[in-house]
Amino acid sequence: MNRFPGKIVLITGASSGFGAAMTRAFTAEGARAVPASRSTGCDVTRREDVDKLVAQTVEQYGRLDILINNAGIGLRAPFEHTRIADAEALFDVNFFGAFHCVQAVLPVMQRQRAGHIINIASVAGFLGVPHTSIYSASKAALIAFTDSLRLEVKRDGIAVTCVCPGRANDTGFDAHTKTHGPTAKYAVPGRLTTDVVVRAVLNVAEHPRAMVIVPPYGRLLRLANTFAPRAVDRYLHKHLPRMPVTP
Ligand SMILES: NC(=O)c1ccc[n+]([C@@H]2O[C@H](COP(=O)([O-])OP(=O)(O)OC[C@H]3O[C@@H](n4cnc5c(N)ncnc54)[C@H](OP(=O)(O)O)[C@@H]3O)[C@@H](O)[C@H]2O)c1
Repeated sequence: MNRFPGKIVLITGASSGFGAAMTRAFTAEGARAVPASRSTGCDVTRREDVDKLVAQTVEQYGRLDILINNAGIGLRAPFEHTRIADAEALFDVNFFGAFHCVQAVLPVMQRQRAGHIINIASVAGFLGVPHTSIYSASKAALIAFTDSLRLEVKRDGIAVTCVCPGRANDTGFDAHTKTHGPTAKYAVPGRLTTDVVVRAVLNVAEHPRAMVIVPPYGRLLRLANTFAPRAVDRYLHKHLPRMPVTP
């Protein structure tokens, strides 16, 4: 298999979970993956780190074909327990991290008149569940940003995609999620794994589309939440089993 021969793919949040798996998968398919995370010296909240990594990548490889904005953190708290500092820190990574990366790569892709930007949002961006309001808001912002950007840069030959995964429990996400106040953790139906998400990302990198929702039932939830939000509320109340309350 060699679906991305010589393609230069910058992946943020690549030290664990989806990002680490994407790095391995793109490399296995012939791409040159450039992994970025705080542990490799690229904190996406710091514009200077992002600019430096993009400049080094272009200097080394002469181009940059795909940017995957995957770095993200969680926050679980009832809204009244949510601290503004935590909410701002979350937006700094989940939304403004993507902002910095897109601004850094756009001139390169515009010069090339080619490129693909893939933003990893979440089903939570169009379907809120209790105690994740700020995380959901950051992903909703990323989805809206992606839609606008796609229209703006189409004329430059640049594709822009939003990937919205549902809950996958086999990443470091929970361990990296701050929790405040009495929270109930909800188990979302279905068993999504990192492999499935990574496969979806590689497929859309090969054949760009506007939005990908994995698993596919997420598309139904999105439609239902648009046209029958009260029915979705009733469904979620019934089917999201309440786990033990954490202090
Ligand atoms: N797991 C899920 O169920 C799920 C569902 C939908 C969407 N997502 C989204 O998928 C993405 C990946 O999540 P994951 O589940 O793979 O979680 P993860 O295992 O915790 O990975 C998150 C990655 O983000 C990096 N990161 C955090 N802050 C950063 C910063 N300031 N600058 C650069 N990198 C940073 C972390 O690396 P360092 O700590 O080394 O910097 C880590 O590599 C996130 O955007 C998440 O919101 C996850």
